[in-house]
Amino acid sequence: MGVIYGGRSVEHEVSLVSARAIMQALDPGRYEVVPIGITRQGRWVIGASHCALPPDPSVHGLVRLRDGGPARALPAVRGGPALIRGGLTPKPGGRTARGAAGGALPGRLDVIFPVVHGTGGEDGSLQGLLELAGLPYVGAGVLGSAIGMDKALMKVAFSQAGLPIVDHRVIRRCDLAKGGDRFIQSVEAAFGYPCFVKPANGGSSVGVSKAKDRGGLIAAIDLAARYDRKLIVERAIDAREIECSVLGNDEPEASVPGEIVPANEFYDYRSKYIDPESRLLVPAPVTADQSRRIRDLAARAFRCLDLCGMARVDFFLDRASEALFVNEVNTIPGFTPISMYPKLWEASGLSFPALVDRLIRLAIERHAEKKRLITSYRPGRNGRRSLTKG
Ligand SMILES: Nc1ncnc2c1ncn2[C@@H]1O[C@H](COP(=O)(O)OP(=O)(O)O)[C@@H](O)[C@H]1O
Ligand SMILES: [Mg+2]
Repeated sequence: MGVIYGGRSVEHEVSLVSARAIMQALDPGRYEVVPIGITRQGRWVIGASHCALPPDPSVHGLVRLRDGGPARALPAVRGGPALIRGGLTPKPGGRTARGAAGGALPGRLDVIFPVVHGTGGEDGSLQGLLELAGLPYVGAGVLGSAIGMDKALMKVAFSQAGLPIVDHRVIRRCDLAKGGDRFIQSVEAAFGYPCFVKPANGGSSVGVSKAKDRGGLIAAIDLAARYDRKLIVERAIDAREIECSVLGNDEPEASVPGEIVPANEFYDYRSKYIDPESRLLVPAPVTADQSRRIRDLAARAFRCLDLCGMARVDFFLDRASEALFVNEVNTIPGFTPISMYPKLWEASGLSFPALVDRLIRLAIERHAEKKRLITSYRPGRNGRRSLTKG
């Protein structure tokens, strides 16, 4: 099996730590792991040895995957499409296939575990590549990944499904020059300050700010616009941050909820990965009724986006009103040993290695199901012999 990690997103470093933990959890008696690293520059380094990964499995001391690849790495291939042509596609009969750059690659990859967070990995593009290559892969498909990445479209889907979401406004970067003032007025009229500004497609809180007045809002919009061509501004909720892990395909199960207590004013990049003062409470100290509602909403959010395999669903629990809001889903959640996704499953009775195992099985099941679908149509041949109605 292949584990794809790294990537060109702002979450490159986090991905390396997650990938290492997953590779270590795989039983070497059952899985032959092929590490597939994507460097910051987008080069694919096949067979990169574990020395490319940070030695410390904690989230501290994040490192980048070197573009040249580690000494023992097999030749890099230029990009994903080359993999389809030359390397990763299962080849009947052959143990080894030639890589696009001429290096020997393990010939049969039965399943891929993509551990690339953020754009290029979690947004459906990598999933599309794997679909074209005909390989089973862990986690959401193209559509679910893409919608799960886009905070604006995700909210459209959630509100359509009747899931509670935070009041917000969306603007495209290209409309800022002409319509920026009107946009700011509409934000002020709708919910005012403080508010949160985010790139619509992002993660790890990169480009996210809390704006407390108009000056802050303008600066926050400028910052977010550097990361995406679409921005979202939300009412700030004085909330507890609750997360719930979901696992499954057609019948998703939700874990016990957990709670994040950020070290800073909000759960920004520093509090996520650098500041050891942030705390995870597992399980979250919520009432039985709240826990039930969280788990129910998490499974509904998962089904609403047509997800499969895994997702972490994040909530805000309003401190005053106790109202729950679905904030977002993460279709490739952090997988470091101290990450919430595996921790919540551990607290729900599923160990890290058992979780990884189950995810691989779910990927294979979904792929087999898809392969059973009819992909061609000839009138009169499918099902009934002849069509009687026009
Ligand atoms: N509407 C909001 N109200 C209160 N806090 C928020 C809001 N939106 C975001 N935050 C804070 O910012 C953090 C990052 O925002 P989030 O939408 O989760 O983006 P990311 O995908 O980068 O994790 C959240 O974990 C939370 O601490
Ligand atoms: Mg988040």
